[in-house]
Amino acid sequence: MSPIIVAIDGPAASGKSSTARAVAAQLGFRHLDSGALYRGVTLAAVRAGLPRPFDAPDVVAEAERWGVDLRPRNGDFEVVAGEPVPDASLRAAAVTEHVSEIAALAEVRCWVNEHLRRTALEGQGVVVDGRDIGSVVFPKAQLKVYLTASPAARAGRRLRQRGEAVDPEQLRRETEALAARDHADSSRAVAPLVRAADAVALDTSDLSFEEQVDRILELARDRGLASDG
Ligand code: CDP
Repeated sequence: MSPIIVAIDGPAASGKSSTARAVAAQLGFRHLDSGALYRGVTLAAVRAGLPRPFDAPDVVAEAERWGVDLRPRNGDFEVVAGEPVPDASLRAAAVTEHVSEIAALAEVRCWVNEHLRRTALEGQGVVVDGRDIGSVVFPKAQLKVYLTASPAARAGRRLRQRGEAVDPEQLRRETEALAARDHADSSRAVAPLVRAADAVALDTSDLSFEEQVDRILELARDRGLASDG
């Protein structure tokens, strides 16, 4: 039987990953973080010292050479590059700076999508978060959610996540950085960030974390995807 797919898409810092992880745990599924795989590929390109603008075949070749892949872990999948890659390395500034440029390369997206589709087959269900999961990677997902939040709410969350001060100047800078990445992700030619026509939009600006997880679980129950539903 093919696995159940719950797709959660949205812009940077909309809370996709933490929400997807909690929803997956409640449903007894695994969390699959597609952004982490783009970050793993970017890390390989950065470690290899590839020159910019990045050349797609070179980036894919480095991802292969470093053994970038996803391996099942307790409730999710971890990024490996030969060995497990710590989250801090995936979220390093050099990776965040280049990831959108690398994610705009069609050949890289094909490589990532193939890995995601293969990985999703491991287990009875996955909650996958990203930018194009409901629109491109898993268009037949049983539930698609598009998470949004105001730029200020997203910037505040990202600063708190990194343990940084949430003062007006930092907020302004983080809002600008997120806006630049949103623009790059939404305006690229290949698989831009869009809300799939059949995705349920959820604005989380004024929702607590528990509330946003509950809303998605409710949608999952409505569709008969939860074992208690
Ligand atoms: O966690 P955050 O919102 O910072 O981003 P992420 O999920 O780690 O993804 C990092 C980058 O990968 C995004 O800014 C996109 O450029 C790219 N990405 C993508 O293009 N498609 C996806 N399905 C997931 C991520």
